[in-house]
Amino acid sequence: MISNNHLLLIFIFTFIISIYSDELFDLNKKFISTYDHARDYLISITNPLIICNGDNVVIIHRGKRYQEQVIPKLYHDLKSISHMPFKIYLTVMFNLGILSDDNYTELKQYLQDIRSIRNSIQFPTDIQQTQYDIIDLSIEYLETILKTKFIDQTQLNEFCQQARHLFSVNIDLAARAQLDMLDTKIRPWYEERFNDTERNTLKILIMGPKTARYGYIEKTYFYALLGERQEGNHIIYAENIDNEQRALEILGVWLLDAKASASFFSGDSERLHRDVLADAGVAHIKRIFKTSKSEL
Ligand SMILES: *[C@@H]1O[C@H](CO)[C@@H](O)[C@H](O)[C@H]1NC(C)=O
Ligand SMILES: *[C@@H]1O[C@H](CO)[C@@H](O)[C@H](O)[C@H]1NC(C)=O
Repeated sequence: MISNNHLLLIFIFTFIISIYSDELFDLNKKFISTYDHARDYLISITNPLIICNGDNVVIIHRGKRYQEQVIPKLYHDLKSISHMPFKIYLTVMFNLGILSDDNYTELKQYLQDIRSIRNSIQFPTDIQQTQYDIIDLSIEYLETILKTKFIDQTQLNEFCQQARHLFSVNIDLAARAQLDMLDTKIRPWYEERFNDTERNTLKILIMGPKTARYGYIEKTYFYALLGERQEGNHIIYAENIDNEQRALEILGVWLLDAKASASFFSGDSERLHRDVLADAGVAHIKRIFKTSKSEL
């Protein structure tokens, strides 16, 4: 009987809470829409703004939008060549031993493809030979495995090692090609077209893949250009987002939280960038584990 009463009480109590929380939930929608407006307004007055998105950089300056290509075709070409040995490796990596019919057909076709590519590639003369070397290594390895119809682990490892030596040259070239073009396009904006005030208020929004967050080449470039040491003041990285509108919203949230944070937490503009509950949470988690230990 006692336990039934107890259940009834819990039931009534939960019921009351849920009525109130529905109203609160609705009221909170007003917070959300006001927040979104404030965020969009902040984005609209951010000047200047540089958005890095794939091959292009968008510069928003004094209400105008400019677009510059910052990744040269050479970068993509070098990448495609370096991916040849990688593609071969990926095809067979889980199928060591006798070459499956699937892989045989696939690689035979691939061999034909890269043979014909070899005849048509055009690179600056000083780097052409490296491209031939990578293709030739791939052709040679493919010919061997198509003949023996066997994937030997040691042979595959050797192929990978040789390929890596060759494409480390390409990686170096690709990084330089990309950075040189980026610098040629960006520096005149930063040093000449932006004034002192604008250099101070500049925001850079980098849209990039999640896995490349650390050491992402464009990010490293902008850190050096601005002499920044950490994300958040001028540079924001939006990971795994390929849609400019979504990325801008992330930037807007970041800016708005910094502004609101300074107002609510006595000038600490970083406070809202951490979970609002973080400090209280850590304190209570400590309490919980202390209690449970002393109960043991
Ligand atoms: C390689 O062979 C395996 C086993 O038949 C198959 O599962 C895999 O899809 C093949 N890969 C390609 C790229 O053909
Ligand atoms: C810099 O440019 C902005 C417009 O973006 C202008 O409002 C500001 O007065 C300029 N500042 C200086 C120091 O020229």
